Amino acid sequence: MRVHVADHPLITHKLTVLRDKTTPSPIFRSLTEELVTLLAYEATREVRTEAVEIETPVTTTTGLAISSPRPLVVPILRAGLGMLEGMVKLLPTAEVGFLGMLRDEETFEPKTYAERLPDDLSGRQCFVLDPMLATGGSLGAAIEFLFDRGADDVTAICLLAAPEGVAALEKLTEGRDVKLVLGTVDERLDDHGYIVPGLGDAGDRLYGLV
Ligand code: URA
Repeated sequence: MRVHVADHPLITHKLTVLRDKTTPSPIFRSLTEELVTLLAYEATREVRTEAVEIETPVTTTTGLAISSPRPLVVPILRAGLGMLEGMVKLLPTAEVGFLGMLRDEETFEPKTYAERLPDDLSGRQCFVLDPMLATGGSLGAAIEFLFDRGADDVTAICLLAAPEGVAALEKLTEGRDVKLVLGTVDERLDDHGYIVPGLGDAGDRLYGLV
C-alpha cells in the first residue's frame, strides 16, 4: 500500500475548522467537500488517460483524455456520501457506485448492508471515499469487495486516519495495488474506536443524529 499524507496549510486550516465541535453541519459539509477536492487532486495523479487528437483554433495537436472504462467513485455510506460532491467536481465523468458499511459498535467488525456497484469491475480504477480511517475494518472490507469484483487499482481517500487504522489497512490489503490519500494522521484511537483528537462522528456531524 502506498500512503500519501497531504502536507498543505490550506488542508490543515480546513481540518482545524472541521475538528472544532462548534462548527455547524452546513459549514462542516461544505468544508468536507472542499477538502476532498484538494485531496482528489493528489488521488487522481495516476488516473488512466489515453491520447486524443484535437484541433485548437491554430493547429492539430495531441492531448490526453480520461480513458474508458471510466473511473468509478465509491462513497462508503453514510459518511462517505459527504465526500462525493467534492470528488465528482474534479472528476465529473466518473461513474458512482455505493457501498453501505456499518460498524458493529461492540466488536467494531464491518458489515455490508447496501451495495450498488457493477457486477464486473475488471479494468476499473476505483476511488473509495470514507472520511475516517479508524480501525481500518470497514475500509479494508470495502476495498476487498472491489477487488473481489475484479477491480485492479483502488485508491482510498480519507480526511483523517489513526496510525492503528493505517497499519491495519496495510495488512488487510497486502499484495494489492492500493493507494491511500490522507488529509492527516492523528495520534491514536480511543477505547470506543474514535480517532483522537479527531472530529467526533463524521456521519453525525455531516447529517445530524439519525
Ligand atoms: N468514525 C467516525 O466518524 N469518527 C471516528 O473518530 C472514528 C470512526
